[in-house]
Amino acid sequence: MSAPARRPLVLPDFPWDSLAGPRARALSHPDGIVDLSVGTPVDEVAPIVRQALCAAAAVPGYPTTHGTPELRAAVVAAMGRRYGIGAVDPTAVLPTIGSKELIASLPSLLGVAAGDLVVVPELAYPTYEVAARLAGADVIRTDGLTALGPRTPAVIFVNSPANPTGRVLGVDHLRKVVAYARERGSIVVSDECYLGLVWTGAAHSILHPEVCDGDPTGLLAVHSLSKTSNLASYRAGFVAGDPALVAELLGVRKHAGLMVPYPVQAAMIAALTDDEHERQQRDRYRDRREVLLTALRGAGFTVEHSEAGLYLWATRGEPARATVDRLAELGILVAPGDFYGPAGSAHVRVGLTAPDERIAAAAIRLR
Ligand SMILES: Cc1ncc(COP(=O)(O)O)c(C=O)c1O
Repeated sequence: MSAPARRPLVLPDFPWDSLAGPRARALSHPDGIVDLSVGTPVDEVAPIVRQALCAAAAVPGYPTTHGTPELRAAVVAAMGRRYGIGAVDPTAVLPTIGSKELIASLPSLLGVAAGDLVVVPELAYPTYEVAARLAGADVIRTDGLTALGPRTPAVIFVNSPANPTGRVLGVDHLRKVVAYARERGSIVVSDECYLGLVWTGAAHSILHPEVCDGDPTGLLAVHSLSKTSNLASYRAGFVAGDPALVAELLGVRKHAGLMVPYPVQAAMIAALTDDEHERQQRDRYRDRREVLLTALRGAGFTVEHSEAGLYLWATRGEPARATVDRLAELGILVAPGDFYGPAGSAHVRVGLTAPDERIAAAAIRLR
């Protein structure tokens, strides 16, 4: 018998389909559903960003894959101002069509292949595993690198502040990851899309001088404007870090036509240059978080981590699906922790991304 003509990819099931039952129950609540399951922004895009998009809407030519020099300069300036990251080389910045597509394709684009190893956090945004599978690589879920034994990972994904737990990795932890990766030649991909949404303490970029000593070798920081500037609908992100790795990504992405539309690049410049709309958005989420945190604790939940990001990681010490069902009876839809890994089987992820009125309704129902 001849070899198969192709081997279809085997990817994890799309977990959200399993929420159809609880969603239907929550929708039947007389005062309507409070959907805290998906972290999609609900507040309008800031006028300053919309105006920049519109002002660039007549430009007909292809955008450059590398992004305009103005956009890359705006990224470098914002990373310095907002996150204390000094001296990012503007050539080592690359705009992306949101960060999800970059994360999903990154191992493949960097030549990771079957037999290679990709490390993802124990509880993780599902796209890291998808990225490894798309490349045909093996995946290990762990937060402790000693668990890896003698195998050298090709890519280590870290995510601080984390989805789904809101956990922030301290400088010491991040330094250990960098040192481990440098000794072995592994690439660290640090997903930092919640770095601008910190509620208690401080969170550091992998490119922060206290973490990497000012040396970006082997490091890639992945950023998104979806949450901090409500630009999920625009698809606006970027990656920055090791100039050689960014050049490699740029080369492949040029061939593949993976470029950010020019008007979106213009909108990104406005969003990265104006810190005021970003602060206002952070304040909205801070208020919503306070309301939900108090309500969940009052209803007997324990909330763990959650010191940053857009989710509360909550448990009642029962299976996640039982909590999801119980909350659906109140018309509140949340995500079961098992979506993010087996270690989440007794937790639920409660999103802060709902309008104030819906957050208030959830708090009343939890009483
Ligand atoms: C941890 C994490 N990374 C990346 C993304 C993707 O964001 P986007 O593609 O909108 O930039 C998300 C979205 O929820 C996320 O939670």
